[in-house]
Amino acid sequence: MSKESRRQIIAGNWKMNKTSLEAKEYIEKLKSFLLPHKSEVYLAVPFTALSLASRIAENSSIKIGAQNMNAAASGAFTGEIAATMLIDAGASFVILGHSERRQLFGESDEVVNMKLKRSLEENLEPIVCIGETLEERESGRMQEVLERQISQTFADIIDADMASLILAYEPVWAIGTGKTATPEVAQEAHAFIRKVIAKKWNPTVAEEISFLYGGSVKPDNAKELMLQQDIDGLLVGGASLAPDTFSEIVDAQATIPQL
Ligand code: PGA
Repeated sequence: MSKESRRQIIAGNWKMNKTSLEAKEYIEKLKSFLLPHKSEVYLAVPFTALSLASRIAENSSIKIGAQNMNAAASGAFTGEIAATMLIDAGASFVILGHSERRQLFGESDEVVNMKLKRSLEENLEPIVCIGETLEERESGRMQEVLERQISQTFADIIDADMASLILAYEPVWAIGTGKTATPEVAQEAHAFIRKVIAKKWNPTVAEEISFLYGGSVKPDNAKELMLQQDIDGLLVGGASLAPDTFSEIVDAQATIPQL
């Protein structure tokens, strides 16, 4: 399978921003801004906006999802939310293991692995994030860290599930810092991740899985990133907060001739 046949996804991650009314206005605008595009458009909204956002996005090319969930099916976990509740509120996907969850809320690879298994069990499509910190990169441990994250985060995931999930590479040093990985640096990491997956699962799985790059993606670097052989989509934080800017990123992808 070549890059052309892998799924192309442009995903926005609003993080802790927007009320449901703001979400409604945003999605209505985004729908009117989007030109015909080949990529799938995903929006990870706050829990409280899921219900209204998914209703407004109905019958459009925009998929609505969440930014986190608990690994348990239900139970005494005050303040947590289960996969079935996200689905009930209109989510069709969930971001798991975002670096902010790992760094600020102490989520380990093992916890992300349990969440991943639950999301697959409930048919809630996972976008699973991995990525190294600046310190790990500068001390020459990037490959070791990525390899560990892949082995542990995706432990026991069978070939078919692995091939169909979405993996996001987000170098922690590029998130919200304005420091984008250059397209070459991002490509190098993506190619390495694909190689590790080919070794741990098999080459077919590695060829099928869609990889998103995330970290300071903007309209002016989106196209160059998307042109890289192993980058199939983008996970956009800050630049997804305004519908005109986000639609420019989706459009940048749409203008790539060979896609
Ligand atoms: P950023 O965030 O685009 O604001 O760097 C990306 C992310 O955290 O998903």
